[in-house]
Amino acid sequence: MFKPEYFIKKQVKQIKSIVGKNKVIATVSGGLDSIVSTILAFKAIGNQLSAVYVDTGLMRGYELSEIKKFLNKKNISLIVINVRKNLFDKLKGISDPKKKRDIFRNIFYGVLLNIMKKRRVHYLVQGTIKTDFPEPISKIKCSNITTIEPLKNLSKNEVQLIGQILKIPSNFLKRPPFPGPGFAVRIIGEVNQEKVKIIRKATKIVEQETKNIRKFQFFPVLMEGKLIGTKKGKLVFGYGIILRAVKSKDGGKTAKIVQMSWDALNKIQKRLLKELPNVVHIFYSITDKPPATIELQPASFIASKEIKVD
Ligand code: XMP
Repeated sequence: MFKPEYFIKKQVKQIKSIVGKNKVIATVSGGLDSIVSTILAFKAIGNQLSAVYVDTGLMRGYELSEIKKFLNKKNISLIVINVRKNLFDKLKGISDPKKKRDIFRNIFYGVLLNIMKKRRVHYLVQGTIKTDFPEPISKIKCSNITTIEPLKNLSKNEVQLIGQILKIPSNFLKRPPFPGPGFAVRIIGEVNQEKVKIIRKATKIVEQETKNIRKFQFFPVLMEGKLIGTKKGKLVFGYGIILRAVKSKDGGKTAKIVQMSWDALNKIQKRLLKELPNVVHIFYSITDKPPATIELQPASFIASKEIKVD
Protein backbone atom coordinates (compact mmCIF):
# COMPACT_ATOMS: atom_id res chain seq x y z
CA MET A 1 0.00 0.00 0.00
CA PHE A 2 1.12 3.53 -0.78
CA LYS A 3 2.21 5.41 2.35
CA PRO A 4 2.43 9.12 1.57
CA GLU A 5 4.22 10.17 4.80
CA TYR A 6 6.88 7.54 4.27
CA PHE A 7 7.19 8.52 0.60
CA ILE A 8 7.79 12.18 1.54
CA LYS A 9 10.45 11.30 4.13
CA LYS A 10 12.22 8.98 1.72
CA GLN A 11 12.22 11.46 -1.16
CA VAL A 12 13.45 14.35 0.99
CA LYS A 13 16.32 12.19 2.24
CA GLN A 14 17.14 11.02 -1.26
CA ILE A 15 17.15 14.52 -2.78
CA LYS A 16 19.41 15.73 0.03
CA SER A 17 21.87 12.93 -0.56
CA ILE A 18 21.90 13.40 -4.36
CA VAL A 19 22.49 17.16 -4.44
CA GLY A 20 24.52 17.75 -1.28
CA LYS A 21 25.39 21.44 -1.03
CA ASN A 22 24.85 22.16 -4.73
CA LYS A 23 22.37 24.56 -6.29
CA VAL A 24 19.23 23.14 -7.87
CA ILE A 25 16.61 24.38 -10.32
CA ALA A 26 13.01 23.14 -10.33
CA THR A 27 10.71 23.75 -13.29
CA VAL A 28 7.23 24.91 -12.35
CA SER A 29 4.35 24.89 -14.81
CA GLY A 30 1.46 25.97 -12.63
CA GLY A 31 0.24 22.41 -12.27
CA LEU A 32 0.15 20.22 -9.17
CA ASP A 33 2.94 17.79 -10.09
CA SER A 34 5.66 20.40 -10.51
CA ILE A 35 4.58 22.25 -7.36
CA VAL A 36 4.70 19.05 -5.31
CA SER A 37 8.17 18.14 -6.58
CA THR A 38 9.37 21.69 -5.93
CA ILE A 39 8.13 21.57 -2.35
CA LEU A 40 9.73 18.16 -1.78
CA ALA A 41 13.03 19.59 -3.04
CA PHE A 42 12.60 22.72 -0.93
CA LYS A 43 12.01 20.60 2.17
CA ALA A 44 15.25 18.78 1.37
CA ILE A 45 17.57 21.65 0.48
CA GLY A 46 15.89 24.98 1.33
CA ASN A 47 17.29 28.01 -0.43
CA GLN A 48 19.76 26.03 -2.54
CA LEU A 49 16.65 25.72 -4.73
CA SER A 50 15.29 28.20 -7.32
CA ALA A 51 12.17 27.65 -9.40
CA VAL A 52 11.94 28.44 -13.12
CA TYR A 53 8.76 29.17 -15.05
CA VAL A 54 9.13 29.08 -18.82
CA ASP A 55 6.43 31.40 -20.13
CA THR A 56 5.34 29.79 -23.41
CA GLY A 57 2.07 31.67 -23.90
CA LEU A 58 0.42 28.25 -24.27
CA MET A 59 -0.99 27.93 -20.76
CA ARG A 60 -4.45 28.73 -19.43
CA GLY A 61 -3.43 32.21 -18.32
CA TYR A 62 -3.72 32.17 -14.54
CA GLU A 63 -0.78 29.84 -13.83
CA LEU A 64 2.01 32.39 -13.48
CA SER A 65 0.28 34.73 -11.03
CA GLU A 66 -0.77 31.80 -8.81
CA ILE A 67 2.71 30.32 -8.90
CA LYS A 68 4.28 33.69 -8.03
CA LYS A 69 1.94 34.16 -5.08
CA PHE A 70 2.54 30.66 -3.73
CA LEU A 71 6.34 30.63 -4.12
CA ASN A 72 6.58 34.12 -2.68
CA LYS A 73 4.76 32.96 0.45
CA LYS A 74 7.17 30.04 0.75
CA ASN A 75 10.19 32.27 0.12
CA ILE A 76 11.27 30.27 -2.92
CA SER A 77 12.89 32.39 -5.59
CA LEU A 78 11.36 32.30 -9.06
CA ILE A 79 12.97 32.99 -12.42
CA VAL A 80 10.54 33.68 -15.29
CA ILE A 81 11.75 33.25 -18.86
CA ASN A 82 9.51 34.51 -21.65
CA VAL A 83 9.87 32.45 -24.84
CA ARG A 84 6.54 33.42 -26.40
CA LYS A 85 7.86 35.25 -29.47
CA ASN A 86 10.48 32.70 -30.35
CA LEU A 87 8.07 29.81 -29.84
CA PHE A 88 5.20 31.28 -31.87
CA ASP A 89 7.61 32.26 -34.66
CA LYS A 90 8.93 28.70 -34.84
CA LEU A 91 5.46 27.14 -34.68
CA LYS A 92 4.25 29.24 -37.64
CA GLY A 93 3.08 27.02 -40.48
CA ILE A 94 3.77 23.76 -38.59
CA SER A 95 0.82 21.39 -38.32
CA ASP A 96 2.58 18.07 -37.83
CA PRO A 97 2.07 17.08 -34.16
CA LYS A 98 5.50 15.53 -33.82
CA LYS A 99 7.21 18.64 -35.18
CA LYS A 100 5.13 20.84 -32.89
CA ARG A 101 6.24 18.82 -29.87
CA ASP A 102 9.87 18.85 -31.00
CA ILE A 103 9.83 22.64 -31.42
CA PHE A 104 8.23 23.05 -28.01
CA ARG A 105 10.69 20.73 -26.33
CA ASN A 106 13.76 22.26 -27.97
CA ILE A 107 12.81 25.80 -26.99
CA PHE A 108 11.70 24.83 -23.49
CA TYR A 109 14.81 22.83 -22.64
CA GLY A 110 17.04 25.18 -24.62
CA VAL A 111 16.28 28.13 -22.33
CA LEU A 112 16.26 25.95 -19.26
CA LEU A 113 19.68 24.50 -19.95
CA ASN A 114 20.96 27.94 -20.83
CA ILE A 115 19.96 29.38 -17.50
CA MET A 116 21.41 26.36 -15.71
CA LYS A 117 24.67 26.81 -17.56
CA LYS A 118 24.81 30.53 -16.75
CA ARG A 119 24.18 29.87 -13.07
CA ARG A 120 26.38 26.77 -13.02
CA VAL A 121 23.53 24.56 -11.82
CA HIS A 122 23.70 20.84 -12.61
CA TYR A 123 20.59 19.51 -10.87
CA LEU A 124 17.11 19.81 -12.34
CA VAL A 125 13.91 18.85 -10.50
CA GLN A 126 10.90 17.97 -12.64
CA GLY A 127 7.31 17.00 -11.85
CA THR A 128 7.06 14.05 -14.25
CA ILE A 129 4.49 11.44 -13.16
CA LYS A 130 3.71 7.91 -14.34
CA THR A 131 1.12 8.79 -17.00
CA ASP A 132 3.07 11.71 -18.48
CA PHE A 133 4.26 11.72 -21.99
CA PRO A 134 8.00 11.61 -22.06
CA GLU A 135 9.19 15.08 -23.10
CA PRO A 136 12.59 13.64 -22.61
CA ILE A 137 15.33 15.92 -21.59
CA SER A 138 17.50 12.94 -22.45
CA LYS A 139 16.91 13.79 -26.11
CA ILE A 140 18.72 17.09 -25.56
CA LYS A 141 22.46 17.02 -25.16
CA CYS A 142 23.08 17.66 -21.50
CA SER A 143 25.36 15.01 -20.13
CA ASN A 144 26.36 17.14 -17.14
CA ILE A 145 22.79 17.54 -15.83
CA THR A 146 21.26 15.24 -13.23
CA THR A 147 17.47 15.13 -13.50
CA ILE A 148 15.53 14.47 -10.31
CA GLU A 149 11.96 13.25 -10.78
CA PRO A 150 10.62 12.37 -7.32
CA LEU A 151 7.10 11.59 -8.59
CA LYS A 152 7.95 9.57 -11.65
CA ASN A 153 6.43 6.32 -10.33
CA LEU A 154 3.29 7.92 -8.92
CA SER A 155 -0.22 8.28 -10.33
CA LYS A 156 -2.17 11.52 -10.18
CA ASN A 157 -4.19 10.30 -7.19
CA GLU A 158 -1.02 9.58 -5.24
CA VAL A 159 0.41 13.01 -6.11
CA GLN A 160 -2.82 14.56 -4.81
CA LEU A 161 -2.39 12.69 -1.51
CA ILE A 162 1.17 13.96 -1.18
CA GLY A 163 -0.03 17.47 -2.07
CA GLN A 164 -2.63 17.38 0.71
CA ILE A 165 -0.04 16.37 3.29
CA LEU A 166 2.32 19.10 2.08
CA LYS A 167 -0.58 21.57 2.46
CA ILE A 168 -0.50 22.67 -1.17
CA PRO A 169 -3.39 25.17 -1.68
CA SER A 170 -6.62 23.80 -3.13
CA ASN A 171 -6.36 25.76 -6.39
CA PHE A 172 -3.36 23.56 -7.28
CA LEU A 173 -4.80 20.38 -5.76
CA LYS A 174 -8.09 20.59 -7.60
CA ARG A 175 -6.71 21.74 -10.93
CA PRO A 176 -7.42 19.34 -13.80
CA PRO A 177 -4.30 17.91 -15.46
CA PHE A 178 -3.04 19.97 -18.38
CA PRO A 179 -0.43 18.82 -20.89
CA GLY A 180 3.08 20.23 -20.62
CA PRO A 181 3.01 21.67 -24.17
CA GLY A 182 -0.34 23.23 -23.20
CA PHE A 183 -2.56 24.45 -26.02
CA ALA A 184 -0.08 23.14 -28.60
CA VAL A 185 -1.67 19.76 -27.76
CA ARG A 186 -5.25 21.08 -27.58
CA ILE A 187 -5.05 22.82 -30.98
CA ILE A 188 -5.06 20.25 -33.77
CA GLY A 189 -2.83 21.49 -36.57
CA GLU A 190 -1.01 24.82 -36.76
CA VAL A 191 -0.77 26.87 -33.58
CA ASN A 192 -1.14 30.64 -33.80
CA GLN A 193 -2.15 33.52 -31.53
CA GLU A 194 -5.73 33.65 -32.87
CA LYS A 195 -6.32 29.96 -32.16
CA VAL A 196 -4.71 30.16 -28.71
CA LYS A 197 -7.01 33.06 -27.84
CA ILE A 198 -10.06 31.02 -28.87
CA ILE A 199 -9.07 27.80 -27.08
CA ARG A 200 -7.99 29.68 -23.93
CA LYS A 201 -11.37 31.42 -23.72
CA ALA A 202 -13.18 28.14 -24.49
CA THR A 203 -11.18 26.42 -21.73
CA LYS A 204 -12.12 29.15 -19.27
CA ILE A 205 -15.82 28.81 -20.13
CA VAL A 206 -15.70 25.00 -19.89
CA GLU A 207 -13.81 25.12 -16.56
CA GLN A 208 -16.36 27.60 -15.14
CA GLU A 209 -19.36 25.59 -16.30
CA THR A 210 -18.03 22.23 -15.08
CA LYS A 211 -16.41 23.14 -11.78
CA ASN A 212 -19.05 21.24 -9.80
CA ILE A 213 -19.10 18.17 -12.02
CA ARG A 214 -17.25 15.01 -10.91
CA LYS A 215 -14.59 14.39 -13.51
CA PHE A 216 -10.91 13.78 -14.12
CA GLN A 217 -10.69 16.17 -17.06
CA PHE A 218 -13.20 18.22 -19.05
CA PHE A 219 -11.66 20.26 -21.82
CA PRO A 220 -12.19 21.68 -25.31
CA VAL A 221 -10.02 20.88 -28.33
CA LEU A 222 -9.82 23.15 -31.37
CA MET A 223 -10.28 21.28 -34.62
CA GLU A 224 -7.96 21.72 -37.55
CA GLY A 225 -9.17 23.98 -40.37
CA LYS A 226 -12.41 25.84 -40.60
CA LEU A 227 -15.94 24.51 -41.02
CA ILE A 228 -18.84 26.01 -42.89
CA GLY A 229 -21.52 27.45 -40.65
CA THR A 230 -24.49 29.75 -41.14
CA LYS A 231 -25.12 33.05 -39.45
CA LYS A 232 -28.04 35.37 -40.15
CA GLY A 233 -28.89 33.37 -43.27
CA LYS A 234 -25.36 33.62 -44.70
CA LEU A 235 -22.64 31.01 -45.04
CA VAL A 236 -19.63 31.70 -42.83
CA PHE A 237 -16.35 29.93 -42.06
CA GLY A 238 -15.59 29.20 -38.44
CA TYR A 239 -13.84 26.87 -36.04
CA GLY A 240 -15.10 23.61 -34.59
CA ILE A 241 -14.58 22.64 -30.95
CA ILE A 242 -14.63 19.10 -29.56
CA LEU A 243 -15.50 18.74 -25.89
CA ARG A 244 -13.92 15.81 -24.09
CA ALA A 245 -14.98 14.87 -20.56
CA VAL A 246 -13.63 11.85 -18.69
CA LYS A 247 -13.64 10.27 -15.24
CA SER A 248 -10.73 8.10 -14.17
CA LYS A 249 -10.11 5.83 -11.20
CA ASP A 250 -6.44 5.27 -11.98
CA GLY A 251 -5.12 8.77 -12.59
CA GLY A 252 -5.68 8.74 -16.36
CA LYS A 253 -4.39 5.29 -17.33
CA THR A 254 -7.94 4.39 -18.29
CA ALA A 255 -10.95 6.67 -18.43
CA LYS A 256 -14.72 6.58 -18.82
CA ILE A 257 -16.69 9.23 -20.55
CA VAL A 258 -18.74 11.62 -18.37
CA GLN A 259 -22.40 11.19 -19.24
CA MET A 260 -23.43 14.83 -19.23
CA SER A 261 -27.06 15.88 -19.06
CA TRP A 262 -28.34 17.47 -22.24
CA ASP A 263 -29.20 20.70 -20.37
CA ALA A 264 -25.67 21.09 -19.01
CA LEU A 265 -24.11 20.37 -22.39
CA ASN A 266 -26.47 22.71 -24.15
CA LYS A 267 -25.62 25.48 -21.71
CA ILE A 268 -21.92 25.05 -22.45
CA GLN A 269 -22.39 25.01 -26.21
CA LYS A 270 -24.59 28.13 -26.08
CA ARG A 271 -21.97 30.03 -24.08
CA LEU A 272 -19.16 28.90 -26.38
CA LEU A 273 -21.04 29.96 -29.51
CA LYS A 274 -22.12 33.27 -28.00
CA GLU A 275 -18.79 34.28 -26.52
CA LEU A 276 -16.63 32.98 -29.38
CA PRO A 277 -17.98 34.47 -32.59
CA ASN A 278 -15.45 32.58 -34.76
CA VAL A 279 -16.74 29.19 -33.58
CA VAL A 280 -19.61 27.60 -35.52
CA HIS A 281 -19.82 23.98 -34.37
CA ILE A 282 -19.46 22.10 -31.06
CA PHE A 283 -18.98 18.32 -30.79
CA TYR A 284 -19.04 16.04 -27.72
CA SER A 285 -16.68 13.09 -27.68
CA ILE A 286 -18.33 9.88 -26.39
CA THR A 287 -15.48 7.34 -26.42
CA ASP A 288 -13.74 5.85 -23.36
CA LYS A 289 -10.00 5.23 -22.99
CA PRO A 290 -9.35 2.62 -24.28
CA PRO A 291 -9.80 2.59 -27.20
CA ALA A 292 -9.33 6.38 -27.39
CA THR A 293 -6.74 8.36 -25.44
CA ILE A 294 -7.74 11.23 -23.17
CA GLU A 295 -6.15 13.96 -25.28
CA LEU A 296 -6.94 13.95 -28.99
CA GLN A 297 -3.72 12.85 -30.54
CA PRO A 298 -3.29 12.89 -34.29
CA ALA A 299 -1.80 9.68 -35.60
CA SER A 300 1.49 11.03 -36.84
CA PHE A 301 2.58 11.59 -33.25
CA ILE A 302 1.69 8.04 -32.27
CA ALA A 303 3.43 6.74 -35.38
CA SER A 304 6.49 8.78 -34.50
CA LYS A 305 6.70 6.92 -31.18
CA GLU A 306 6.89 3.73 -33.24
CA ILE A 307 3.81 2.19 -31.73
CA LYS A 308 2.41 -0.51 -34.00
CA VAL A 309 -1.09 0.08 -35.26
CA ASP A 310 -2.84 -2.47 -37.40
P1 XMP B 1 -3.60 10.32 -22.80
O1 XMP B 1 -3.98 11.31 -23.84
O2 XMP B 1 -2.31 9.63 -23.09
O3 XMP B 1 -3.40 11.15 -21.47
O4 XMP B 1 -4.68 9.32 -22.53
C1 XMP B 1 -3.11 10.64 -20.18
C2 XMP B 1 -2.87 11.83 -19.26
O5 XMP B 1 -1.66 12.51 -19.67
C3 XMP B 1 -1.95 13.87 -20.02
N1 XMP B 1 -1.16 14.20 -21.22
C4 XMP B 1 -0.04 14.92 -21.21
N2 XMP B 1 0.65 15.47 -20.21
N3 XMP B 1 2.26 16.30 -21.74
C5 XMP B 1 1.78 16.16 -20.48
O6 XMP B 1 2.43 16.68 -19.56
C6 XMP B 1 1.60 15.76 -22.81
O7 XMP B 1 2.03 15.91 -23.94
C7 XMP B 1 0.41 15.03 -22.53
N4 XMP B 1 -0.46 14.36 -23.30
C8 XMP B 1 -1.40 13.85 -22.46
C9 XMP B 1 -3.44 13.92 -20.31
O8 XMP B 1 -3.98 15.23 -20.13
C10 XMP B 1 -3.98 12.90 -19.34
O9 XMP B 1 -4.15 13.45 -18.05
